[in-house]
Amino acid sequence: MNIAVFASGKGTNLQSLIDAEKSANLAEGHIRLVISDKKDAYALIRAAKAEINTFVLESKECSSREEYEKKLMIRLKKENIDLIVLAGFMRILSADFVEAYKGRIINIHPALLPSFKGMHGIKDAFDYGVKITGVTVHFVDKEIDEGPIILQKSILVEDHDNLETLEEKVHKEEHVLYPLVVKLFVEGRLKIEGRKVRIAE
Ligand code: GRF
Repeated sequence: MNIAVFASGKGTNLQSLIDAEKSANLAEGHIRLVISDKKDAYALIRAAKAEINTFVLESKECSSREEYEKKLMIRLKKENIDLIVLAGFMRILSADFVEAYKGRIINIHPALLPSFKGMHGIKDAFDYGVKITGVTVHFVDKEIDEGPIILQKSILVEDHDNLETLEEKVHKEEHVLYPLVVKLFVEGRLKIEGRKVRIAE
């Protein structure tokens, strides 16, 4: 199964997937392509180190979202991509794009959805004062941070936590949860039933 990871930033989640593949923990999943909308994303360096093809497409190279996504699709088709893994990709995908890859795009969010959607899930949860936050991996649909939830992991916010320590805790769990979900997908064990995702034995 051919996987494309979309990343705009540091790429620590990408790294966890690269490491999982190396240690045979992605079943028959292979990361064939890393796509970024930022040419200086550190994720691209991680991909290069792991000898994974990269494709950089910045917004300014296209006159519209349609053109941007058309170019993405051409590249994804060329590499026969079966699964798109969003890992800190800072662009919103259109409903048409999501429809074209329906049930084959997953995202990781650093909070327990449906709470604290958006760009700053960790900080928003921390500032709100919740005692439990977490990580969510979900299928992507046309609404942001809304698709059917695959797995979640809760994390305690303790009195001694500050934003930095909480961020560390969240990222640590992300790096365990995301490879696990990708493996389940690759093994064909995720069944979407309406809003629910059933995990087959
Ligand atoms: C992660 O916290 C993820 O949950 C969010 O974006 C961040 C990406 O971090 N969607 P990294 O680039 O994988 O280090």
